[in-house]
Amino acid sequence: MESIYFDHAATTAMHPEAIRAYAEAAEAGPGNPSSLHARGREARERVTAGRDVFAERLNVSASELVFTGSGTESDNTALFGAAYAQRKKGKNGIVTTAVEHHAVLNACRKLEADGFELTVLPVDSDGIVSMEDAKAAIGENTAVVSVMAGNNETGTLQPYADIGQWARTYKAVMHVDAVQAFGYVDFDLNQLPIDLLTLSAHKINGPQGVGLLYARKGTPFQPLLYGGSQERSRRAGTENVAGIAAFAKAAEIAIAERQARREHTESIREAFIRRLETSLGSDGFAVNGHPVRRLPHILNVSFPGVSSESMLMNLDLAGIAASGGSACNSGSLKPSHVLSAMNLSSEKVSSAVRFSFGLGNTREEADKTAKMTATISARLRNS
Ligand SMILES: Cc1ncc(COP(=O)(O)O)c(C=O)c1O
Repeated sequence: MESIYFDHAATTAMHPEAIRAYAEAAEAGPGNPSSLHARGREARERVTAGRDVFAERLNVSASELVFTGSGTESDNTALFGAAYAQRKKGKNGIVTTAVEHHAVLNACRKLEADGFELTVLPVDSDGIVSMEDAKAAIGENTAVVSVMAGNNETGTLQPYADIGQWARTYKAVMHVDAVQAFGYVDFDLNQLPIDLLTLSAHKINGPQGVGLLYARKGTPFQPLLYGGSQERSRRAGTENVAGIAAFAKAAEIAIAERQARREHTESIREAFIRRLETSLGSDGFAVNGHPVRRLPHILNVSFPGVSSESMLMNLDLAGIAASGGSACNSGSLKPSHVLSAMNLSSEKVSSAVRFSFGLGNTREEADKTAKMTATISARLRNS
């Protein structure tokens, strides 16, 4: 059976050139970047080359970049690292949004349990935080502000630059989770008021299990992991040399092809919506998230009267991979915290499906999937 993969927000296939970079590093034989001998130096050179790619593309100094084991680790390192360092200066407040990934939200909740004062900003029905709310929440006591760039369930973009500017006036550390936005949005960190930025390799056609944390020079910070002095003592543990080489290659390609990828995924998304309109009529489905301020590769749709689980099961039987929310929630019946925070009706929340597009997808696949989705929707509604 032909299969269609529309779950790129969960994870992506590795780019052939990233696989080549991974294989080249793995086949080079053993080499610990901390070893002083030639093998070690060779491994260290690979890590340095990877770091230089990010330094150039993000317009930062290589010394400000820390490789980690995942986006989740980068988020946790950013939040715990900055919060505890700021507490030493008497700052105790954490500000985040209700639509963050659980890697941020649950880290913030742990900080709250550890005595920090947590403010979770609400969002409007499009999933966007208001500047007024952010301004009211951020003050002298604020240690860390964490606002994602683009949402993993709806694609909605937050005003992270404006919030970062405001955070700066209060010397609060500004963290941005850019896991979904990177590769679609430009991050010139020399210009943006961002102190900490999270990236993850497997969302941009790199390998799973590699992340990056940008930590602006001078940002209050303490490590999450203690051990060796890798990554300038900011993240102990032997570096994932092959993974880093592949991540850097994937990033290089994603950035070089950013505009083309935006147009490609946007055209797939449009084709999908057009087909749903002709097959179901505009009353038969509802697109969730902001219509314009959004990432091009994520489409969140509710099908009134059809549960997400039934739709996903039927799509899976038809060979189509989509998702009911963030990957860590799929498989569980818990309603999406993102859509709930947007105050959507329970019917919309319980019938939402996320389709996310990427390399290799075509408009024909979108057309076919939308038709299949419409057929399933009509069948399930009538039964
Ligand atoms: C916005 C966002 N942040 C963080 C993560 C976690 O990244 P990783 O899977 O590399 O731990 C994800 C993954 O779904 C994500 O979408």
